Amino acid sequence: MNPHTLSMRLERVAAQVPTGARLADIGSDHAYLPVALMNRGAIVAAVAGEVAVTPFRAAQRTVHDNGHELHIHVRLADGLAAIEPADRIDAVSICGMGGETIRDMLDRGKAYLSGRERLILQPNGGEQPLRLWLMDNGYRILCEELLRENRFDYEIIVAERGTPVSYSAEQLYFGPLQMQARSPAFLAKWQRLLRYKQRTLGQLAEARQALPEQKVQELAQEVRWITALLV
Ligand SMILES: C[S@@+](CC[C@H](N)C(=O)[O-])C[C@H]1O[C@@H](n2cnc3c(N)ncnc32)[C@H](O)[C@@H]1O
Repeated sequence: MNPHTLSMRLERVAAQVPTGARLADIGSDHAYLPVALMNRGAIVAAVAGEVAVTPFRAAQRTVHDNGHELHIHVRLADGLAAIEPADRIDAVSICGMGGETIRDMLDRGKAYLSGRERLILQPNGGEQPLRLWLMDNGYRILCEELLRENRFDYEIIVAERGTPVSYSAEQLYFGPLQMQARSPAFLAKWQRLLRYKQRTLGQLAEARQALPEQKVQELAQEVRWITALLV
């Protein structure tokens, strides 16, 4: 992957960034996403935020090699602290991390958001707690996408603040829009997960492993939800 050839996952994220946006890409690693968008003339400015020194330097290098120092600011910062008011950011991407990590980053960094940004989130697992945070903080999910690349399922969740919305427990678990659309990728993911969770439940029963009863009940509940989804 490089700023000329993004992974399919980052291409799908890129497609959710509004044309002409001022993007903050948090946890940017090599800054491939903002640099690719700038190379295409799809955004006008960006911040690439990184908490770790090695990827921060890699991001600086990518920005320099592509001649975008004037329009992409690379900052060493924890989460949304990379954003400064003068950046006038209107889109925030946080990709390639666990959903809980993204949620915690958003929660810790609320003060850096104006509330008018589009959030483009690509969690690796932990989608349910992330959707719950979005709902609890006045965000509405505008678009959800699921893709499979290199044998991994990736979800993309796009949200903006708007009129408060209330999602059911199942909608938070599966994704409200994905539940409606029932794409082949979505159904295939849940068929795979159903088999896996049924096997785990069976093994737990056989081994009489000392797993807290609440955990077993949660797993059984998930199996019921997925079974009902797939009928
Ligand atoms: C797996 S990489 C994902 C890179 C890129 N966003 C992508 O999707 O390909 C996660 C990056 O997030 C950075 N990161 C983790 N926690 C962070 C935080 N609190 N603030 C900023 N960056 C963070 C890591 O240093 C790492 O470079």
